Amino acid sequence: MSELQQFGGDWTIEKLDILTGYLDAYLTALKNFHFKKIYIDAFAGTGSITTRDGQREIAGSARLALLADNHFDQYYFIEKDKKKAAQLQQMVNVEFPKLSKCVHIKQGDANTELTSICSAIDWRFNRALLFLDPYATEVSWTTLETIAKTESFDVWYLFPFSALNRMLRRDGHMEQSWIDCINRLLGDSNWMDEFYKEDPQIDLFSDNKIIKDASSKDIEQYILRRLWFDYTNPFFPGDNLIHDFQKFFPLGFLLTVAVLDVCKCFLLHCPAPPLF
Ligand SMILES: C[S@@+](CC[C@H](N)C(=O)[O-])C[C@H]1O[C@@H](n2cnc3c(N)ncnc32)[C@H](O)[C@@H]1O
Repeated sequence: MSELQQFGGDWTIEKLDILTGYLDAYLTALKNFHFKKIYIDAFAGTGSITTRDGQREIAGSARLALLADNHFDQYYFIEKDKKKAAQLQQMVNVEFPKLSKCVHIKQGDANTELTSICSAIDWRFNRALLFLDPYATEVSWTTLETIAKTESFDVWYLFPFSALNRMLRRDGHMEQSWIDCINRLLGDSNWMDEFYKEDPQIDLFSDNKIIKDASSKDIEQYILRRLWFDYTNPFFPGDNLIHDFQKFFPLGFLLTVAVLDVCKCFLLHCPAPPLF
């Protein structure tokens, strides 16, 4: 039983169910296209997740991708932790020996490995589905830019909304390392002007000069605008589209999906050329 990965609750099952359904829909929709299909799980884990009571093991995203009815031509699994990467390799060797030749396990940082995958592959003949499921703020904006330049990726990004919101302190007192982290996550420092204003209560005795002036909704909208306008294209979806998710499913492979926080799911249009 995997002691290395602990269960995150119902949301874990829900997100993995959605992912699995999407993988099959994606491969079915693309089956008559000549390009090779690549699946990349950039925060792959071990392939197994142990439930909180320690009694049950459920399949993680990497194992689910390999179990799907339809197969990709190549699989890339990136995992930073050496032990987890070894456990994942073992799982592939033992449970999927027939697929092992097309499975590449990269032990390292997701940003570095994704950048090298982007430059190593000829994107005229390949198309990738990327699953980004970080614990927190690990994905750099520059990595998204590198991916977008290929115009060949469909991306599922579980955006670390709670982690970001926690760092955005009300009194604006943030360590430089947090500011650097948010800049790296969002690509620049414009969020500072967007989320903070001069504190109207400012007095001679207070060193508090700014105050947070953005609700969770404002922050979500800013992130979506940023992903939409800067990373994908200028059609902002506006509302939270979680309830419309199923409706969009058949077109899923044309969409980039950003999931913000538990139960908040947004669909964004993918930069790839039309396929129909
Ligand atoms: C939320 S878990 C992913 C779980 C996985 N999707 C599953 O279903 O089993 C995040 C994983 O990313 C790994 N990780 C953390 N930082 C990383 C980084 N910078 N690059 C690659 N992997 C990283 C962690 O060790 C952990 O296994």
